[in-house]
Amino acid sequence: MRLTIRDIQKMKDTGQPIVMLTAYDAPSARLAEAADIPTLLVGDSLGMVIQGRDSTVQVRLEHMIYHCEIVSRVTQRPLVIGDLPFMSYKVSPEQALTNAARLMQEGGVGAVKVEGGESLAPIVERIVSSGIPVMGHIGLTPQSVNQFGGFRVQGREADSAFRLVKDALAIEAAGAFGVVLELVPTPLAAYISSLLRIPTIGIGAGAGCDGQVQVYHDLFALAGEFLPKHAKQYAQIGDLIRDALRHYAADVQARTFPDASHGFTQKDEVMAELRAQVETELGIKPRKDTPS
Ligand code: KIV
Repeated sequence: MRLTIRDIQKMKDTGQPIVMLTAYDAPSARLAEAADIPTLLVGDSLGMVIQGRDSTVQVRLEHMIYHCEIVSRVTQRPLVIGDLPFMSYKVSPEQALTNAARLMQEGGVGAVKVEGGESLAPIVERIVSSGIPVMGHIGLTPQSVNQFGGFRVQGREADSAFRLVKDALAIEAAGAFGVVLELVPTPLAAYISSLLRIPTIGIGAGAGCDGQVQVYHDLFALAGEFLPKHAKQYAQIGDLIRDALRHYAADVQARTFPDASHGFTQKDEVMAELRAQVETELGIKPRKDTPS
């Protein structure tokens, strides 16, 4: 049975930390499910880690639907949450509802995530009132990176911290089932988590959140040289893959791959008959000896 937003709320209510991981494709989704990760986020971070862009701003709804459909189809248990990308939900409540419905119907997700605080509350309310679960995302909201002037910690001063508290309360009041806190100082994130009934999911927001989310590629050194301060590398898979690829290239160059075990046999008589037929009917011979 697939987990729902009720199960996620129960985790907060019983003090069980919520684990969330991004997944974008069949291998990452299957591995995450095999590791019993209960919530998968098809994040628009795919614009950076899959598409190789320097922000999420150019990710389009079609990209999100494509990846959400894969992750939803190949998993059975985790709650799959899909990001609504830049400018796909802020133009009007109607636009937001239409696109959230597409992510659910065509992408198969159980919930959508949107970035923004108090001013986004009416839009969250409109989507939720139509039966689509919504997760909020405040603090550093990557779709607004051009406005922030970079990926910076938010809420360090008293006034911006107060704004973040109001953002979180407004998103909860609008009916969101949870909220991501990104790049928020640890004490502030813990404080917001203690004020909210719904779970907070932190990324760069310390251990006082109700759960944590990480970007899949950051955990495995698959996203290149740069590792954000908030990420922890659990395995150097990128190095392993690079070394294996060098090995593969060397094998091909040395003609040690493929060997007989990787190929398919054919009867000698079939090849003899073919050679004869090609020579007599097409009048051509091999330019070099072919191995039998
Ligand atoms: O797009 C994403 O992966 C996210 C997480 C970093 C929270 O929004």
